[in-house]
Amino acid sequence: MNKPKIVVMASGEGSLLQALLDQQKNLNYEVGMVLSDKKEARALARAQAATVPTQLLEPKNFESIDAWHFEILRTIQAANPALIVLAGFMRILPELIVLEFQNKILNSHPSLLPLFPGLNAVAQALAENVQETGATMHLVDQGVDTGPIVHQVTVKVLPQDTPEALHQRIKLAEQEALPKVVDLLVNNQWQVVGGKVVIDY
Ligand code: GRF
Repeated sequence: MNKPKIVVMASGEGSLLQALLDQQKNLNYEVGMVLSDKKEARALARAQAATVPTQLLEPKNFESIDAWHFEILRTIQAANPALIVLAGFMRILPELIVLEFQNKILNSHPSLLPLFPGLNAVAQALAENVQETGATMHLVDQGVDTGPIVHQVTVKVLPQDTPEALHQRIKLAEQEALPKVVDLLVNNQWQVVGGKVVIDY
């Protein structure tokens, strides 16, 4: 039987994408396409190495930001995925896309939301001297990192941590959790109850 397909959107190194690619043989989903806004994103090379189709849509190649958004929309619609996964996609999706794919976009964010949303979440956590931080996998709504929470993982902050060292450990936790969360969402019924996702086991 065909596995549920996901589209992964990534702008950077792509270590979360790699975890999704590595785990697809053990879990019930398939990475059907990788979409990036950056030519130099290592995520694209990782997808190609795994013979997954890629789409490079760089905003600078479009007449307007609206035209770029529309092309993203059209590309995802054509792929018709069960879930869209933002794995280090460093842009905010417009209302047009969020509403079209309501409750179908999953983001992984490197903090325990609602703490430290937005950019530099790891540095923000360090600056606030928290003892632990982590990552949140949540559905995307129209706000920035505000959507219904699916899963969270905690990571201890160490006394000598730099933002880079802490982020590396958070990413390891994300790499472990994200494939399982994707598998859970695409293979189960679930509902959003009071701002979080509840799986109907
Ligand atoms: C992850 O920490 C994710 O939470 C954040 O960007 C990072 C992506 O890392 N949004 P990579 O590009 O997958 O290595």
